[in-house]
Formats: sequence, C-alpha cells, structure tokens
Amino acid sequence: MCGIVAYIGIRDAYPLIIKGLKRLEYRGYDSSGVALLENSELNIYKKKGKVSDLENQLADKKLNAKIGIGHTRWATHGEPNDVNAHPHFSNDHKLAIIHNGIIENYASIKQNLIGKGHIFQSATDTEVLIHFIEDIQKETGTSLEEAVRLALLEVVGAYAIVVISVDFPDQLIAARKGSPLVIGVGENEFFFASDATPIIEYTKDVVYLDDYEVAVIRDGQLSIQNLDNTQKVPYIQKLEMELETIEKGGYDHFMIKEIFEQPRSIADSMRGRLRAEEAHLQLGGLAGYIDKLAASERIVIVGCGTSWHAGLVAEYLFEELARINVEVEYASEFRYRNPVIKENDIVIAISQSGETADTLAAIELAKSKGATIFGVCNVVGSSIARASHAGAYTHAGPEIGVASTKAFTAQVTVLTLIAIATAKRKGTISEETYRQLLVELETIPAKVEQVFENASKIKEIAFIFTYARNFIYLGRGLNFPVALEGALKLKEISYIHAEGYPAAEMKHGPIALIDEDMPVVFLATKDSSYEKIVSNIQEVKARKGRVIAIVTEGDSLIPGMVDFVIEVPKVHEILTPLVSVIPLQLLSYYIAVMRGRNVDQPRNLAKSVTVE
Ligand code: F6R
Repeated sequence: MCGIVAYIGIRDAYPLIIKGLKRLEYRGYDSSGVALLENSELNIYKKKGKVSDLENQLADKKLNAKIGIGHTRWATHGEPNDVNAHPHFSNDHKLAIIHNGIIENYASIKQNLIGKGHIFQSATDTEVLIHFIEDIQKETGTSLEEAVRLALLEVVGAYAIVVISVDFPDQLIAARKGSPLVIGVGENEFFFASDATPIIEYTKDVVYLDDYEVAVIRDGQLSIQNLDNTQKVPYIQKLEMELETIEKGGYDHFMIKEIFEQPRSIADSMRGRLRAEEAHLQLGGLAGYIDKLAASERIVIVGCGTSWHAGLVAEYLFEELARINVEVEYASEFRYRNPVIKENDIVIAISQSGETADTLAAIELAKSKGATIFGVCNVVGSSIARASHAGAYTHAGPEIGVASTKAFTAQVTVLTLIAIATAKRKGTISEETYRQLLVELETIPAKVEQVFENASKIKEIAFIFTYARNFIYLGRGLNFPVALEGALKLKEISYIHAEGYPAAEMKHGPIALIDEDMPVVFLATKDSSYEKIVSNIQEVKARKGRVIAIVTEGDSLIPGMVDFVIEVPKVHEILTPLVSVIPLQLLSYYIAVMRGRNVDQPRNLAKSVTVE
C-alpha cells in the first residue's frame, strides 16, 4: 500500500523516480507526487490519478535535480486528490516527506501543533509527521536526523518514510516500522524504494532496513542506527531478481504474463527441493522442523484473500496426508479474537507480499503465546518471512498484477511439498503413495501448459458472458477453495458480482438465485466427489442455470449435460487445484479485458495491504 522511491547521487533524479513509481504503482494508484531539490529550492509536484498523469503534467518542465523523493498513493487518511497526495511539506516548506503506513496518533499530535501555529494543507496523517519533525528540530535545535528519531519515538503506527531537506542538500533520511523499505547501494548513489523493483536496473547491492531503524545518507555515506540510538553496520545483500521478471515482455498485462508463467513458477517452487527419481524431498528452510510438524497436534493457518484460499487447500492436504488437525483463519479475525494457542501449535502464515498487516499481526500474536511460526512467502526478506521462525519461499518471482495468480499456485505447490514431507515423516502415507505424489508433482508444469491449449476456447466463453451481472462458482473437496478463488478473481478485476460455495451448500440458499441468467461455474474434475458434483450440476440445469464445467479430459458424461466445458488434464486428486484454477484465472482475465477494465490495477485495490 503506497509506493515510495527516493534517490540521491549523480543521475537525474526525476526520470529515475518516475520510472520507479511506475514499477511500484501496483501498491497504490490514486495519486502520485515528487519532491525535487532543484537549484537550492525544494519543489513539490503532485497529481491525482496515475503516475502517467503526473508525468504528463510535468512533460514540458525542465526538472533538474540529483536528489528527490516520490510517492504513489493508496488513500487511507483523506480522499485521493492533489492536496492529499504525497510528498508533504513542513510548515516552513523546508522539509518534505513521503510515507507508506499509518500514523495512528496523528490527531493528538496535530492538535498540539495547531496550538503552536502550524497550518495544515491536507487531511493526511503524513503531513502531521513532517510538521512534528520540524517542530522538534526547531524546539531542540538538534540535527534533522535526531529530530526524525525523536519524532518517531512518539509515533504510534506503521511507517516507511523518506525525508528531504532544503537545508541539507547532501542528505536523505529514511526509517521504517512495519512497512517495507529497501536501500540500493550504488557507486556514489543511493536508492530507496518500497521493494527492489525500482532499484534492480541500477544496482544489485541492497540493504533491507529493519523495523525501528533510521538510515541516513550524508556526504555519500550510508549509516544506520536504531531508534534507541545504537549504531548498526549496514548488511549488504545481493538481489537475485532479474530485470525481465518485472517487465511485461510483450504481454498486454502483467496478469496474463503471470498466468502463462505458471509452468515455470511452479517448477521454480519445487526446484532443488524435489527429485522424484531419487524419491528426494527436502525443504531447506524447514530442515529440522519437519519433526516438529509431524509431532504437532494442530496447525493453524493464517492468511488473507487468495493466500487464505491456498490455506484452505492446505487444510485438505495436511488432514488427508498427515492426519493433523488444521484450522484456517482469516488473519484479520484471528488477531482480534482471543484465540486459543498452545505452545506446541504450529502456525503457518501464507503471504505473497510478506507485508500484509493483518497476517503480520496474527503471527506476532501467535508468537507471543509460544507457537512456532512457519512463513510461506513470495517476497524474499519480507517482514513476515523475517518474523517467522522458519519457512519456505514460494519462488514464484515478482508478481506485479494486483490479482494473484502465479503466487497462488506456487503457494499450493509449496504447501503440498510440506504436507507430503510431514506425512512421510509421520508415516501416514505409504512409500508407494509418497513416490507416486513426487512423480505426479513433477508433471504438473507440463499439465498446466496443456491447459493453456484451451485459452482461445476460454476466450470465446468469456465473450459470451462479458456482460453477466452475477456468477456462481461451485466445487467440492479440494475444488471448493478453487471455487472461492475463481469467484474472487472475477470480482476483483471485472467488478462482476461472484460467489463461491461448496457445491452441496447450494441447496441451503444460493439455489434460489439460479435462473436462465445465472452463469454457474462447476469444478467437476474426476475425483472422489465426481458423482455428487454431477448431481449438483443436474440440480442447476433443472432450474435453467447456464453451466460452464471444468472437467477432466476425456469426460464423456458432463459435456452432454452442460452448456460449456473446459478440459483440464488428469492429475492425482491431491494436486487438482494446481490445474483446475488455471481456466478460472483465464476466464476472469478475458472477461475483464472485454469489459475494458484495468486488469493490472483494479479500482480500490492495492497489491500489498500494509494497513489493517
Ligand atoms: C487477490 C489478492 C489478495 C491477496 C491478499 C493477501 O487476488 O491478491 O486477496 O491475496 O491481499 O496478500 P498477501 O498474499 O500478499 O498477504
């Protein structure tokens, strides 16, 4: 939520910052702005709308700066408009700030500052913070860096900030708590960004700032200290990301690129972990913990949105294979209940971004009660990954489209590996089943590729239903979470109302919705609930619903009963979601494109939800 980029060095700051903001636009896209230090003046340019709107507004301006900060916003406090866009000035216009997060106690600080004569332009919490820093600096006569530190000691909430000052043109000051911030270290230049994508083009040397750390660039040097004033040695890591993974590479949208990347991303999530030929399965990040998992009596899975759906798939897997009791919780609910957590509970936190505020808070709560936390995250070095005791990265590569696709299949793949490894250790699956599952897993990338052969057929079906007002998705067993995921994909990018249900639940209410205008997507692959799902299809057809069925190739029964079929290859039942979800991703993508939606940046959404 909100993307920040800052630069100090030898290059022109403005084009670099704009390019970086475009890369971070998935984090928020209701307004954007930059502050540049130009010829000893601190100038701020802001605009409601996309980063390209800001860019167009500034197209004729000669912007000449070697230091600057930029922001793309997802509004929390104050509606999206030019004034509420970041950066924000201090009262004397000598300081400017960009901020990702929420300052929860901003109202009381603001009241106090108004009493001292501060005049605020915006409705944001961020403007309060920069006025507060200015106030401390003036009252104590201390350095800017110290004023930032003292202000942050008073602040309640989450932040990643960068501060620029007209009086200190060789300085940038940054800090984080709860919101991500990466520092790129180049030769005579430094970059700050919410994730590494704006930086990768210029340097692979990065420092991930930790919570409660303040970073200062002064005279071309980076220094880091804790809020308690202790000095830290910057730990420089090498980025493993490649530039092409964050570009569209000829596709119209990131989402479709990411859907088509799945054979590779699924293979990447198994790489080095699985070799079926040698019956080898090992997850390095969980080495030493599989015993603990196998001995556990309960696993609690927390996540949000699509990651929560992956958790529901994992519930079936762990129960079926490892016979462990699993509870899947919305992180946002779990954190505010008084959940019963025992010391030998294992909590698995699933998160693509690794920054989701509710998931992070849920694991902190579980940790405080003594549970062991495993993170299943995509973004390396993310907050959830670091807050976990152990974990396994999904290795799907950067996911830029706001609607999650390849991250979901990578999460399901990794969770499947963990469930199989646990079952093997526990002895709840036979050697034969174990080997068979490993072999079948290795075939999944090719089987996903096979589903793509149906892309043009799915496009035709999408065309027929482009103007549907509602959709229902039904599935049983492992296909129930897939139904939820299909409905979520459709609603978030096409804005069509869609609901997912366990197919048998239909009779308890939703069946009242069925008529000739209601498209119903059935997940009807050949598995242990096949006969039951066939009955559910008949119930919908008897009420004239229009049925699109996802079936296993070669199915000769269902095609005669329904309006449209989309075939997926036969896989081991346990692995079904990895192929059955693919047509649903494509269906929602094509419908959204045909409706003219902004697929990669749907309205009101942000990729990484760092506020609760
Ligand atoms: C849906 C989607 C969201 C995320 C959710 C959790 O397509 O992307 O529902 O799954 O916001 O995000 P992460 O996985 O980053 O914790």
